Amino acid sequence: MEFKYSEENQKKLDEIVSHYPHKKAGTMAALWLAQEQNGWISGEVMEEISAQLEVTLEEILGVITFYTMYNKNPMGKFHLQVCTNVSCMLRGGYQIYDHVKNKLGIGNMQVTDDKLFSLEEVECMGSCGTAPMIAVNEDYYENINIEDVEKILESLKNKN
Ligand code: FES
Repeated sequence: MEFKYSEENQKKLDEIVSHYPHKKAGTMAALWLAQEQNGWISGEVMEEISAQLEVTLEEILGVITFYTMYNKNPMGKFHLQVCTNVSCMLRGGYQIYDHVKNKLGIGNMQVTDDKLFSLEEVECMGSCGTAPMIAVNEDYYENINIEDVEKILESLKNKN
C-alpha cells in the first residue's frame, strides 16, 4: 500500500530539508518521521523517501540496516528494548531480558500474537549510570528490577 506523509509530517520534513544544500541530507529525519507515522520502514516508505529526496533505494537500505533505531519489520504497539550491555549486564540486564522474554513468550525481534508487545535486546542506550534499564518506545525506565518490570508490563496492558 502506498505511503504518504501526513500533512503535518510533510510540513516538518519540508522544513528540515530546507536547511540542507541537498535533499538527500534529510534522509534520516525522513525515515524517523515515517517510522513514527507508519511504525516501521516498509518498502513503500522507502519508495516515497527515494522519490522525495532523490536518494536511491540502496542508499536508504544502507541507512536503515546500519542504524538499529529503524524498524525493518512491523513491531508491537509497545516496543520493549532491553539493554544487556556491560553496565546493565552487571546489574541484572540479562535477568530482565530473560524475564520479559519468558513473560511475553517471544524472542528477540519478535512480536506477540496480539501485536501489543515486541522485544529487542539492545546495546548501550546511554543510560549506564542508572543501569539496568529498558526503553518502551521513546520512554526510559531506569534502575529497575524484576518487580518493576512486572509493574511496567501490567501498566502497559492496562493502557491498551
Ligand atoms: S549499558 Fe545499558 S544503558 Fe549503557
